Amino acid sequence: MAIPERFIDELIDRCDIVDVVSRYVPLKKQGSGYVGLCPFHSEKTPSFHVQREKGFFHCFGCGAGGGVIQFVMRAENLPFPEAVAVLAKQAGLTVPEDAENTAYRRRRETLLNLQRDAARFFYATLQSPSGAEGLAYLRRRGLSDNTIRRFGLGFAPNRWDALMDAMRAKGYEKTDMLEAGLLVEGREGRVYDRFRNRVMFPILSLRGDVIGFGGRVMDDSQPKYLNSPETPVFAKGRNLFAMNLVKNERPSEILLAEGYMDVIALHQAGFRTAVASLGTALTPEQARLIKTYAENVVLVYDADAAGQKATARGIDILKSAGLNVRILRVPDGKDPDEFIRKNGADKFAQLLRGTQGDLEYRLSRLPNAADHDAPEKKIAYLKAAAELLASVDDPIERDVYLQRVAAETDTTLDALRIQVNTARKSRDRSARREETRRTLNPVRNVQPAARELRYDNPRAARAEEGLIALLFFDPTLTQRLAQEELGTLFTVPLYAKLYSLIQNRIHDGGVLTPDAFAQELSADEASQLSRILARTPVGEPDRALSDYIAVMRQEHMKNASLQALIDAKKISGGQ
Ligand code: CTP
Ligand code: MN
Repeated sequence: MAIPERFIDELIDRCDIVDVVSRYVPLKKQGSGYVGLCPFHSEKTPSFHVQREKGFFHCFGCGAGGGVIQFVMRAENLPFPEAVAVLAKQAGLTVPEDAENTAYRRRRETLLNLQRDAARFFYATLQSPSGAEGLAYLRRRGLSDNTIRRFGLGFAPNRWDALMDAMRAKGYEKTDMLEAGLLVEGREGRVYDRFRNRVMFPILSLRGDVIGFGGRVMDDSQPKYLNSPETPVFAKGRNLFAMNLVKNERPSEILLAEGYMDVIALHQAGFRTAVASLGTALTPEQARLIKTYAENVVLVYDADAAGQKATARGIDILKSAGLNVRILRVPDGKDPDEFIRKNGADKFAQLLRGTQGDLEYRLSRLPNAADHDAPEKKIAYLKAAAELLASVDDPIERDVYLQRVAAETDTTLDALRIQVNTARKSRDRSARREETRRTLNPVRNVQPAARELRYDNPRAARAEEGLIALLFFDPTLTQRLAQEELGTLFTVPLYAKLYSLIQNRIHDGGVLTPDAFAQELSADEASQLSRILARTPVGEPDRALSDYIAVMRQEHMKNASLQALIDAKKISGGQ
């Protein structure tokens, strides 16, 4: 769906990026721009830069960057058209509806209606004779009728076409059902119901629309859970199971569990702020979604090895989103659902009162943490603990845990403090070294963080980057390039793409802003563009332009002769 470029230009014109960003992060004036702590990764010293006139942001720490629209897309977790709508509303503009746009909206509406009708079908089936087996299963797992209703649980019959027939009768097309992931296409084009003989867990968006399903088998067959695929209305990494219910609870603390059943059991037991990620590992977007509704989160993952691994990963992601994280350990290798079934809600409330802070949890997971009677084990544990304590920036928090570790290991405070301070100094040193390396080493600087964008030829790449930046600073330069036919000289595909976008844009009489290509570039690509634009502009644009073109031609020639050499060798039978 395309929103007219003219409208985007007007919108960007009306939105001051510094004002917009300031609603999320405090910014300080520095030089010609503004700096602050990056909202997209966790940092202590500001590496997040915003340029008002050029209309873009860039973080030198995590590489995130783009224009004002891309900022809102990231900060609010929104796709492009929705971010535009948010900004337009703030600016008092109405987004024009073109034909494509309307078609896109209709498409979404159809898919959402279909998902809702499918959920109703599964729900009705569960309550009907053909759903008896499913209902018995859910009751066996301790779910009340009330809970089943509250979560809208359902049943998919053991047939190839039950849902297909029911939805066709309601006027939906097979193509809709395929796109919604409710049907799958087998070999020879045969289509059939994706979900068969499973109890169904509908997944709702924050707004309360059904956007997808998880379906569970009732025995030990595989796969245990089957989920809807990603569709135009279902992005797993951006939604959380039960968040639509939890957001109304005005939670101060959200419980993050691993599975659908854990969440449902928790809600039934009265812990009504439980959510889960959707059959995938926790994403930073999901962490930010939690942060929108609460400051505190308790991880209630399974006690097994996989659950503990996910906990370690989860802590980092949640802390990076600015959440206070505590960890609840479910004893006896169980998950929260099993624990509550066996021990009751009161016992779980007790666990909830005894959660660990993330540091406490990490200390307890260090090797030899539980058993350090032998001196060598104790030394190993203390060294690792000192290393961990050294990473704590808050001096009070550091001291509290330092005292605790000293007491618990029967070590003198002084000895441990020296060890921690030494570790802190060496951390500072390596942080400074890293910083220096980043700013002083231009070749490394030119290598983008994203792995898929390694440059084969840094010299050419730098010239190409410089050229793109120049065109943004002074679009009239494109006229000079009309005769040059530079398009084929680019060595970095992304830069070739940017160059052609710039040319088309100028040709159509459009304006060049970092948001200009928001519809054509992925978030990663937009970050690359903002990184290029964050470079200091050169004093003499005309000279610089000639230099960049010269370098690009040279490198192209070198490459051409090299290629000729390789080809010649191949022909003569060489390697
Ligand atoms: N999951 C999945 N696909 C699978 C297995 C698991 O998508 N084949 C996801 C589901 O979202 C599930 C979560 O991972 O809810 C946790 O899986 P697991 O711990 O195996 O299941 P439980 O939540 O314990 O489910 P149950 O109690 O029904 O066995
Ligand atoms: Mn379980």
